[in-house]
Amino acid sequence: MERLHFYSIVLVVVVSLSAAAEVAESAIGVNWGTISLHRLSPKNVVDLMKDNKIEKVKLFDADPDSLKALMGSGIQVMVGIPNEMLALLSSSASACDLYVAVGNEPFLTSYSGQFQSYVVPTMVNLQQSLAKANLAGTVKLVVPCNADAYVSNLPSQGAFRAELTQIMTQIVSFLNSNGSPFIVNIYPFLSMYGNSDFPQDYAFFEGTMHPVVDGPNTYYNAFDGNFDTLVSALSKLGYPQMPIVIGEVGWPTDGASGANLTAARVFNQGLVKNVLSNKGTPLRPGVPPMDVYLFSLLDEGAKSTLPGNFERHWGIFSFDGLAKYRLNLGNGYLKNAKEVKYLPSRWCVANPNRDLSTVANHFKLACNYADCTTLSYGGSCNDIGEKGNISYAFNSYYQVQKQNPKSCEFDGLGMITMLDPSIGDCRFLVGVTDEKSLGFRSDGGWSVFLLVACWAFRVIFM
Ligand SMILES: *[C@@H]1O[C@H](CO)[C@@H](O)[C@H](O)[C@H]1NC(C)=O
Ligand SMILES: *[C@@H]1O[C@H](CO)[C@@H](O)[C@H](O)[C@H]1NC(C)=O
Repeated sequence: MERLHFYSIVLVVVVSLSAAAEVAESAIGVNWGTISLHRLSPKNVVDLMKDNKIEKVKLFDADPDSLKALMGSGIQVMVGIPNEMLALLSSSASACDLYVAVGNEPFLTSYSGQFQSYVVPTMVNLQQSLAKANLAGTVKLVVPCNADAYVSNLPSQGAFRAELTQIMTQIVSFLNSNGSPFIVNIYPFLSMYGNSDFPQDYAFFEGTMHPVVDGPNTYYNAFDGNFDTLVSALSKLGYPQMPIVIGEVGWPTDGASGANLTAARVFNQGLVKNVLSNKGTPLRPGVPPMDVYLFSLLDEGAKSTLPGNFERHWGIFSFDGLAKYRLNLGNGYLKNAKEVKYLPSRWCVANPNRDLSTVANHFKLACNYADCTTLSYGGSCNDIGEKGNISYAFNSYYQVQKQNPKSCEFDGLGMITMLDPSIGDCRFLVGVTDEKSLGFRSDGGWSVFLLVACWAFRVIFM
């Protein structure tokens, strides 16, 4: 994920329906991103979470429609303030007001005072910390992430990179004085993807032929190893007890070899079992991460493919809310979204009666505009042949264009069909209509509290 390739500071607001911040046992939440070509209505998504008893969600921005749909749902929301907003937020109180207005519209009148009085001093503080580290005025910290920061280190030897020690000390002390957890994203998939020597079975939770022996402790999976590397790093700064939240963790299902349904199921199910067992890790026995946010709830077909074609396929549900595989988050297997409004059962394919030798530009255009990442090597549609490729591209484009008949012309090379052209695992999608039908609910006693999260730690550890 490109987010991960930079060290950055993200301010996160947690909005909870419950009056008190109860310290509960570890909970499984989800990340809900909305960089989508076919957006499910926010109400569909919130109902999907409720049906699956998902009680915590993390948003990447304070999208008013998402927040409105979440109001009164009982789901705890963590809202990331985009990095670009941070400088703005910390430099002026009025920008802060603006943010609250955009992000938390429903609560503006009743909570803006409380919110503001909390945010601004925090920002000032953060600003001061950054100033001490010679980062005043920038607030947004963009430091290239050194992927080999922890290579060949043992968990017990975990440490923040030397050049980050000062800033991390300030941030962690700041977090600690605010009672905030440290938030970290852990991606064994990326470790494996970026390093062909990474022992594959170590990425998963079901036994390993390559355990990592670290003094008296043995690690059987990369997740525990990563977690304890962070514990060690925090300990070195003097905060061995600092609570840890996993902000993102998951496995993609398409767009790369190693990204498939089986692997994603094994990884995510192993992760959930590991976390819900409350057994913790060797360095924190009996203390699992505070919360774990799966990445991701839904596929996001409009995300940048810069990190890789898998980037659009992290969902435990497909873009339209269908469970991709059997996964039990602790309350039975995933249930599909209900009452999803699809476009009619129509597809656009290559006209079999036409010479397709002039199709290249159309193909390129369609795939630039729509999503063709499943066609790539290791993808679910990689072996459907040249004509299949063209049909796939045409259909993806046609669906994004809401089945506008003109969008299937392609100078006469396209053709609309009522027969589903899906082949095996390769699904030719039908779009959903993204009507903004919001089920508006009355809000209960919302409490707003603040966490400062720092995505400053990416471990590649083996
Ligand atoms: C799925 O991915 C895993 C690794 O992530 C790999 O070992 C396995 O061979 C893949 N399965 C298929 C069917 O491609
Ligand atoms: C279909 O497209 C993919 C991605 O561009 C490519 O890897 C594959 O070779 C194509 N197949 C054929 C038969 O052209």
